[in-house]
Amino acid sequence: MSSAVPTNHLICNREFVVGAVDPRLFGSFVEHIGRAVYTGIFEPGHPRADARGFRQDVLALIRELGVTVVRYPGGNFVSGYKWEDGVGPAEKRPRRRELAWMATETNQFGTNEFVEWCRLAGIEPMMAVNLGTRGPVEAGELYEYCNHPGGTALSDLRVAHGYERPHGIRLWCLGNEMDAPWQMGTCEPEEYGRRAREAAKQMRFPDANRSSSPPPDVEFVVCGSSSGEMPLFGHWERRVLEQCFHQVQHVSLHTYYGAPIERPVDALAQTDAMARFIDDVAATCDAVSASFKSPKRFTLCFDEWNVWTMDGDRAEWKPAWSIAPPLQEQVHNVLDALLLGGMGLTLLARVDRVKIACLAQLVNVIAPIRTRAGGPAWRQTIFWPFHDLSRYGRGRVLRSAVRCAARIPHVPISAKSLEKAEGNALQVVVVANDDGAVTVFALNRSDALQALVVELQGFEGLGLGWWRILSSPDLRLVNTEAAPDRVRPQEATGARFEGAKLKVDLPPFSWNVLRLAP
Ligand code: AHR
Repeated sequence: MSSAVPTNHLICNREFVVGAVDPRLFGSFVEHIGRAVYTGIFEPGHPRADARGFRQDVLALIRELGVTVVRYPGGNFVSGYKWEDGVGPAEKRPRRRELAWMATETNQFGTNEFVEWCRLAGIEPMMAVNLGTRGPVEAGELYEYCNHPGGTALSDLRVAHGYERPHGIRLWCLGNEMDAPWQMGTCEPEEYGRRAREAAKQMRFPDANRSSSPPPDVEFVVCGSSSGEMPLFGHWERRVLEQCFHQVQHVSLHTYYGAPIERPVDALAQTDAMARFIDDVAATCDAVSASFKSPKRFTLCFDEWNVWTMDGDRAEWKPAWSIAPPLQEQVHNVLDALLLGGMGLTLLARVDRVKIACLAQLVNVIAPIRTRAGGPAWRQTIFWPFHDLSRYGRGRVLRSAVRCAARIPHVPISAKSLEKAEGNALQVVVVANDDGAVTVFALNRSDALQALVVELQGFEGLGLGWWRILSSPDLRLVNTEAAPDRVRPQEATGARFEGAKLKVDLPPFSWNVLRLAP
């Protein structure tokens, strides 16, 4: 370690933890948009599809990615969706105008196919109900169709459709981005909060007025603001929660950040804004609990997060009422992957509050996995940090005391925040894994080499298992069908232990995973 290199110190103690990682932090999202479903996860007749049309090559990549939960069917799509269109004999299902993305929806993939696909993938389904153009009654009917054991009209309809056993869906999103002007059925917060409360009562919680906590087999996610920059942000959360305080457990957050290639430091510094966004939503929830004189702590569900790329090829939105038109098939570069890693670390650092998160989305649309219709599937650059977080980020997140030698002055990318700021050059999260290993995740957000010293207290006899880096002097590099492995993590050498201290030099603009084994 050269003395000219800034040295950053971090101390962790086995006994001091932020919290246990809920595996549902590593969720994702499949919407009926573009080619996410059709020719993404579902392509009957594809050489790698099974008899149901589920692409096995895509499923293998999803399993490798480590996705635990998938939110479905939207997104903006859900606010115009009639779930009845997507069940029953496929040849009888109607084609509809799909107004969120201006496509034709064939309904060949619906609720039952989604649940079957989830079971095959080993993924927990997270179902969203339409509270835009429909309401609490239809939400209750979908719940009855999915989860009621039998002996009623809609549960018997499910049985008649070939699904004897109830789907047992536990996680339910009460609408999507209901504050947004682009949302079908958008409304004032009091109105939405009332719809959410009544939907929960129609679905599984009829005795809500007598009981202060929902039944143990169901969890409801209520829509927070569509982003921290919405005009009503803060007010929206407070006014919604005042309406459905007793019925919901989780509040949703959504964020997409761009990463302009000519401003890598500013791009990566956005994770500080994400941390502040989480803190602001948590504080707002706590203020509502205080006003209810209640010990209730809402947990957070970051059910849309990703990098919305600003570089490379982008399929533009050309609505034409076609079936599964290519839409937002963004090609992510190395900088996008670094930013995604930083966003993932921001979630991991707040596991005391954030219990569920969904990378938006999973296949083809703003996605870690791309496919060609009739052709192969491949991993985008952003696949890798998510993969690392899901695979090695399980266990308990340790509290860290950090002294960062290097600060990065940065200019906020969003025109709406006018303040200049500066942040730490490094983002580091340490996880005590369930198997006795410890994983150090470190993002170097600066253009300079940074030395990191991690003092691990209370861990005996750890040694360096391996160190992997994702980085490149060319932050524009992307993976493509022709070069699917151009960007992938590389084994690194040079990290070492001195007593209980891990010492490592982190290259400029790099994503690092260090696995320390007993
Ligand atoms: O993920 C794409 C879209 O972004 C979703 O449909 C919507 O919820 C958000 O605005």
